[in-house]
Amino acid sequence: MRTVTLQREQAARGPLILVNPAHPLLPGPAPELTAPDSRFPGILLERRTAGLLAACVRAAGGGRDIVPVSGWRSQAEQQAIWDDTWASQGEGFTRRYVALPGCSEHQTGLAIDLGKRAERMDFIRPDFPDEGPCGAFRRLAARYGFILRYRREKEAVTGIGEEPWHFRYVGAPHAALIEEHGLCLEEYGDFLRAGPQRRVLSNGRRVEVSWLACPGESVEAELPEGICQLSGDNGGGFILTAWEAPV
Ligand code: DAL
Ligand code: ZN
Repeated sequence: MRTVTLQREQAARGPLILVNPAHPLLPGPAPELTAPDSRFPGILLERRTAGLLAACVRAAGGGRDIVPVSGWRSQAEQQAIWDDTWASQGEGFTRRYVALPGCSEHQTGLAIDLGKRAERMDFIRPDFPDEGPCGAFRRLAARYGFILRYRREKEAVTGIGEEPWHFRYVGAPHAALIEEHGLCLEEYGDFLRAGPQRRVLSNGRRVEVSWLACPGESVEAELPEGICQLSGDNGGGFILTAWEAPV
């Protein structure tokens, strides 16, 4: 076991942060960004997210037909999208399909909108059907760590309309747990607060996921042997992912 001290402000950072109007993104520098698809050098994602997205698109046979439509957005870009959509489509549509500036996952570099390649593509609501490479991507996404973030049945929880095109990177153990238990990211923190979760991943590795409160200015975390990842949840706690050491 190793012990690490975590500061409260670190709970607002990491690949598992929840970002929504009740959990705004802490302002700060952009993550390290890179383009997942060299055909679209202006569409950027956080580095690891970009690599895994490219791998998942390749595995789905979508190298030609799956197009990244929108990746990382600055605060100014999210504000411009909000304002333009409000002006052209009105308030109801905007609130349904555009996150409040400062509260968009796109500002983390961990979210991507994907579309099926076509002559004309809708920037706010791209077509991403369930057939062909797009459907294959959707079925493989969790294995590469991505969740379909805004499902129809969770609209009342997320406050966002169904978005079959918006994928969020959380990491493979979390995507598997979220998918298997029919959760959305808003519900995942409560699910982990109820107790640690153990799972065998598709590659055979065992993993344990647990939640840790940070009620004061800092908290001590006991890390087991093997590979561990700590992420804030953006709600005053941390999520510890511990992969069993290989034998
Ligand atoms: N379309 C999603 C909700 C966003 O703007 O972040
Ligand atoms: Zn999106």
